Amino acid sequence: MKTIIEPFRIKSVEPLRMTSRAQREQLIEAAHYNLFNLHADDVLIDLLTDSGTSAMSKYQWGALMQGDESYAGSPSFFRFEAAVRELMPFEHIIPTHQGRAAEKILFSICGGAGVIIPNNTHFDTTRANVEFSGAQALDLVCEAGLDPALEAPFKGNIDLEKLEALLQQSAENVPLVLLTITNNSGGGQPVSLANMRATKVLCQQYGKPLFFDACRFAENAYFIKQRESGYAEKSVKSIVREIFALADGMIMSAKKDGLVNMGGWLALNDDELAMQARNLLILTEGFPTYGGLSGGDLEAMAVGLTEVIEEDYLHYRITSTAYLGDALTDMGIPIMRPVGGHAVYINARELLPHIPALQYPGQSLAIELYKQGGIRGCEIGTVMFGRQSDGSEQAAAMDLVRLAIPRRVYTQSHIDYVIECCAAVYGQRHKLRGYRISQQPPALRHFTARFSPLGEC
Ligand code: F0G
Repeated sequence: MKTIIEPFRIKSVEPLRMTSRAQREQLIEAAHYNLFNLHADDVLIDLLTDSGTSAMSKYQWGALMQGDESYAGSPSFFRFEAAVRELMPFEHIIPTHQGRAAEKILFSICGGAGVIIPNNTHFDTTRANVEFSGAQALDLVCEAGLDPALEAPFKGNIDLEKLEALLQQSAENVPLVLLTITNNSGGGQPVSLANMRATKVLCQQYGKPLFFDACRFAENAYFIKQRESGYAEKSVKSIVREIFALADGMIMSAKKDGLVNMGGWLALNDDELAMQARNLLILTEGFPTYGGLSGGDLEAMAVGLTEVIEEDYLHYRITSTAYLGDALTDMGIPIMRPVGGHAVYINARELLPHIPALQYPGQSLAIELYKQGGIRGCEIGTVMFGRQSDGSEQAAAMDLVRLAIPRRVYTQSHIDYVIECCAAVYGQRHKLRGYRISQQPPALRHFTARFSPLGEC
């Protein structure tokens, strides 16, 4: 069957506000050509992020009402803890308000000057938290992961030779090894269980704990089921358990595969580290049985964790992302292949070769998608990474536009509309122009920079 059946029907609707192209041209100009400045109700299809944008189920909304808001020892915490442990058998499960709060706590303890944190690819907040502690964030994704067009099943894998070389040279500076599943900054590509196991063996040889940045663990597990030999007949739940049996700790943004709008956690087995983490948690997030969340949030996460591993859901999820990506490939739009779990990444540099990297082809494409159809994607390229610490500009490794798909939010016809808009932009691609930055902050400029269009090319 070609039609994607969303494994849910809609009980509560959120109206979308239609706008005309003329209105959108004015709105994006008033937003200084930065899509982060748009009011969300001026966006028709919001593909800015898959984080915190999920639709919750009736069971989650029902659970929210069961939230017990006791400051300490809430039964909602114990339900949350049990739901996490059902999949991820850690000794200590410490709730946080979102993923980066868990990162901040972990690297406050394990980071610091002289420390190196290896990862397949650090997400930008993870990198920022590592670097803020004074440590170095090292990306060691495998060669295949650096080739956008290459079709390979596990392009999120870490390069084991590079990891081993690092551990041989400077094990004393490496407090832990991190694996991001799926590899968001590398195109939402999965890591294989074979690669995880081999990483664990290296970690054991050098006495290092293995941590997962596990925001999209269920999507990664589903890819393992589909692509790794020996897993086709295993349940996603058992694959998830096999993954986490390898781990000594994890950081989690439940805003992705927790199927909630807010939440996260840090989990680990080491008693001493956990004590330090809880002490830091109390400083900024709150008491260890709520960690910056309401009891209702904890309940919704507990239910979300049971729904996200349902195979009908994951089939729909992975199929609908691939449906968008494959349609773009078929019409000749270059994207990162194969299609990842949560997003399609358009290669704007290749699509718009007439716009030099320092005139931000990704930004130009993202703006045109908004003008064309009210679609909001996110530039991941020279705007995001091009500014160097000395203030100079350099082209980023790639200029991409990420179309991230919120979970359970859009239907196949919404995605068909996105495909039509992409086709229209593709037809006009020679007319797109570059941009210059007219105002920018010293760091994380993509959120607030102002742009001006350059003349006809
Ligand atoms: N790790 C990864 C791999 C992520 O993708 C994110 C967030 C985080 C950590 C931080 O989690 O937002 O809950 O603090 N990614 C979002 C995105 C923001 O749009 O990709 P958070």
